[in-house]
Amino acid sequence: MQKVVIAGAGGLIGTALCASYRYGGHDVTRLVRREPSTADERRWDPADPDPALVDGADVLVNLAGSPLTGRWTAARTELVRSSRVTTARALRTMADGAGTPVFLSASGIRWYGIDRGDEELTEASDPGPYEGVLPRVARDWEDAAGPGAVHLRLGLVLSRRGGLLKALLPLYRAGLGMRFGKGQEFWSHVSLADAVGAIRFLAKLPGAGGPYNVTAPHPARNRDFAAALGRALRRPVALGVPFAVLRPALGGVAAEVFGGLNVLPARLEEAGFGFRHPDVDTAIRAALTDG
Ligand SMILES: NC(=O)c1ccc[n+]([C@@H]2O[C@H](COP(=O)([O-])OP(=O)(O)OC[C@H]3O[C@@H](n4cnc5c(N)ncnc54)[C@H](OP(=O)(O)O)[C@@H]3O)[C@@H](O)[C@H]2O)c1
Repeated sequence: MQKVVIAGAGGLIGTALCASYRYGGHDVTRLVRREPSTADERRWDPADPDPALVDGADVLVNLAGSPLTGRWTAARTELVRSSRVTTARALRTMADGAGTPVFLSASGIRWYGIDRGDEELTEASDPGPYEGVLPRVARDWEDAAGPGAVHLRLGLVLSRRGGLLKALLPLYRAGLGMRFGKGQEFWSHVSLADAVGAIRFLAKLPGAGGPYNVTAPHPARNRDFAAALGRALRRPVALGVPFAVLRPALGGVAAEVFGGLNVLPARLEEAGFGFRHPDVDTAIRAALTDG
């Protein structure tokens, strides 16, 4: 049995990870920023890191971060950044203070930049230019978690319970499914089940450290993603919606969120992780029935 402490445990990935660990008979503690309401919760304050909260833990997982949805004001940009960078730094301090052997911290594939076209990106790839909100946040986030951490470079996590897919489902179900931009951009996705499986795999992998792309082995272009979702729902997919139309609705980071990144999970595959949903069809089918 592992003793696992999770920050951001109430989010999309955290909820599924807690359930998975509990199902496996492990001891899970959830760090929350409000008054605890159940016996497995401990209150914590990212501005005042307390190593006692992770005392005796085998694994510490950081899945915290303010959502990317909403209008991108300067204040919002700062919250997106600080909720990741400050939190990662605080948890690093706690892990060091308590001697926690394994620290996994969320990051994202925007570490590689905004749009890298068709270039295949592995953990050995360079980060590209230091520009854009999300790429800068991702790099600072990993720096804050520290070089000894496992950095989970998560792709677009697919689940009907949250994230982009949940937002798209009503449109597609109404027959208003669409491609974004030219439809050529790669969307590097991962099913929620595979994201959870990869986190648990890495938490037990001897000597794991540094970045791991948590993305399916076969990324899909946006047009193929749209077609797969339309097929799974048996609904037509309309023509593409240009970025010029999307930008006002989605705010300033629309181009960053939808920029193409062709990310491959080289290190996870080398380590022997087996994806249950390696391509967009299997991942979408799993996402439509998960949880
Ligand atoms: N889902 C994806 O497709 C995806 C892709 C790439 C990267 N990621 C990253 O992976 C992490 C987990 O993703 P998710 O989809 O599970 O996120 P989520 O559903 O939005 O949950 C994130 C959690 O972060 C905590 N949080 C919210 N605001 C915060 C703040 N101001 N300060 C500190 N903590 C705050 C909340 O936990 P409490 O309220 O319980 O403290 C919340 O449960 C996030 O950092 C996200 O950016 C996700």
